[in-house]
Amino acid sequence: MNAWLRRWLFEALYKNAYLYRFASTVPFAGQWRVWQRLVLPRLHGYDVLELGCGLGDLLADMIEAGYACRAVEYSPQMVKAARDTLRRRKLANDALVIQGSARALPFSDASFDTVVSTFPSEYIYDPDTIAEVERVLRPGGRLVVIEGANLLPVGLLQPFLLVIQLLVYGPSAVFGPRKQHNLDEEMARNRGEGLPGDKVLYTNRNTGTGVTTDVLPNAWFGQHIPLEKHGLRRRSERVRSRYWEVYITIGEKD
Ligand SMILES: C[S@@+](CC[C@H](N)C(=O)[O-])C[C@H]1O[C@@H](n2cnc3c(N)ncnc32)[C@H](O)[C@@H]1O
Repeated sequence: MNAWLRRWLFEALYKNAYLYRFASTVPFAGQWRVWQRLVLPRLHGYDVLELGCGLGDLLADMIEAGYACRAVEYSPQMVKAARDTLRRRKLANDALVIQGSARALPFSDASFDTVVSTFPSEYIYDPDTIAEVERVLRPGGRLVVIEGANLLPVGLLQPFLLVIQLLVYGPSAVFGPRKQHNLDEEMARNRGEGLPGDKVLYTNRNTGTGVTTDVLPNAWFGQHIPLEKHGLRRRSERVRSRYWEVYITIGEKD
């Protein structure tokens, strides 16, 4: 599938809540919501802004968890879908979701403790977006980006789903974050074998859930998010279970 067709497909996705729900559920074995929720333990402070909230599921999770949230979403159809989600989950307040762009945030300086972005499109690589994020963050605040995730080819179903992802999202989206780390290496890690050159600053294993978080000093993902240019300190986390791997980039403001 060529790049033009893929872009057209994405535009179509952001205009139709049902299509988007399908595309973010089925090819990812229903794990998308699990990956979104990895934001929750990384929230700092009380006031949270979500960029590109899509269907608004994470927004609702964060409000339910007691955070004061706002969201800026570019697509009018997704704004409506997010407001519908809040209504369905009895958290209705249309004013919380604003139609606008992450590149020009309608908030005054130092308004938020955390800015969140899950599975962002190109806006997250735009220096204008990061300048705006830095502006609206309070000192000590942070940007949390779930940049991407991969299903690992384990079991019977996941290799099949990987092929669907490749067709729909393209090899760079599916394998992009892997650049230096191919699937065999990921499988080796999954079997608990160490990898030469896989440097880890800190590891946290949750034996209850089987989820491991590694803090990486020179991560191969998130490098195109221009954090340092705007004075944000980078922290890269790779979270993995037996079935998937998620790439998280955090930008901390001093
Ligand atoms: C891949 S979707 C991710 C949605 C949601 N965060 C999730 O985890 O499912 C990207 C979202 O970003 C929105 N978006 C694209 N450009 C944007 C911009 N400049 N500002 C705000 N939102 C934008 C799209 O409309 C879409 O809803």
